[in-house]
Amino acid sequence: MDIKIQLYHFIDQLNLINHNFNLLYNDDCESLLLEDSIVNFFVDYKTELSDFLKDLNNDRYSELIDQIVIYSVDDLIKTITRINQFVDIDHTLKAKLYHIYYQFISILIEKMFARTIHIDWLTHQVKQHQAELKVILQEIDELAIYRNEPQNSEDVPCFQYSAKLQLGLMGIDIKSLNGPVIDIGCGEYAYLVNYLVKLGKDIVGIDRSVSNGPHTINTSWFDFDFGEDKWSSIISHQSFTNHFKRQHYKTNGSYIEYIKLYLNILKSLKPKGSFYYTPDLPFIEQFLDSDKYKVERLPIENLGFYSVKITKL
Ligand SMILES: C[S@@+](CC[C@H](N)C(=O)[O-])C[C@H]1O[C@@H](n2cnc3c(N)ncnc32)[C@H](O)[C@@H]1O
Repeated sequence: MDIKIQLYHFIDQLNLINHNFNLLYNDDCESLLLEDSIVNFFVDYKTELSDFLKDLNNDRYSELIDQIVIYSVDDLIKTITRINQFVDIDHTLKAKLYHIYYQFISILIEKMFARTIHIDWLTHQVKQHQAELKVILQEIDELAIYRNEPQNSEDVPCFQYSAKLQLGLMGIDIKSLNGPVIDIGCGEYAYLVNYLVKLGKDIVGIDRSVSNGPHTINTSWFDFDFGEDKWSSIISHQSFTNHFKRQHYKTNGSYIEYIKLYLNILKSLKPKGSFYYTPDLPFIEQFLDSDKYKVERLPIENLGFYSVKITKL
């Protein structure tokens, strides 16, 4: 048996349970119990687990805890953003999640090492961990709907679109699309980036859910340095401006951060370069200096919003 795989499986199950029971909505911690099969693993494989840990030296022991903690937090963040794509986990919140998972995983591993895990102890530990998580997750206002809505309230998932659909909606003519190009919020599968790479375009995509690769960077757009006069074309389909719009219309939205970043992105265009995006942002586009930027709007039939092309003059 691969002990490491089993440990990751335990974390997967825990996150699945948290998601299914809607940790935020459900006040009844009794219903957040782990299935017997998951708990039994720690008891049934007491000896193997302990031997596995005893074989590790100090560095590898701490490395294992760190790896599981990172995996757990990443998985939890993916689960949360799958529930609602507008959730933004900032560095402070992420640090708090690391801390909670670190405490939970360390004590679990310590007990595994000492072969002293009991079902009651584990159940109590999991409940305590979930209660702590709940307090932190309730700070996320985008998840607040879950406190008032029925348990199965609707998710706000994030979709990805084919390259052709994206190009069509934004009225982008590939022949006149000059590089370097950046796709902001390219999506986990970076459809447009991959399509344009095959056509020989010099392009990079950034997204908080994409894996790092030759043409993709895993990052939040808030942490990315867009540079100045750098990009000939910038594309963002249903990503950056969708989130900006949400923050603009929301009470207490983080629209100031979005305004700053929007202006930074425009600054990063080369002269004559264009920023293509959808949905439109009429509340800010109207204030752009017409001596510096040309704004073109393209209606999207039946959907009530526009695609926009902003060209730096
Ligand atoms: C609706 S999807 C659109 C993906 C792609 N542009 C498409 O049309 O297929 C929005 C994307 O924005 C990404 N996203 C949301 N907030 C982000 C952030 N702060 N930094 C980077 N990417 C973010 C999500 O991970 C998601 O992949």
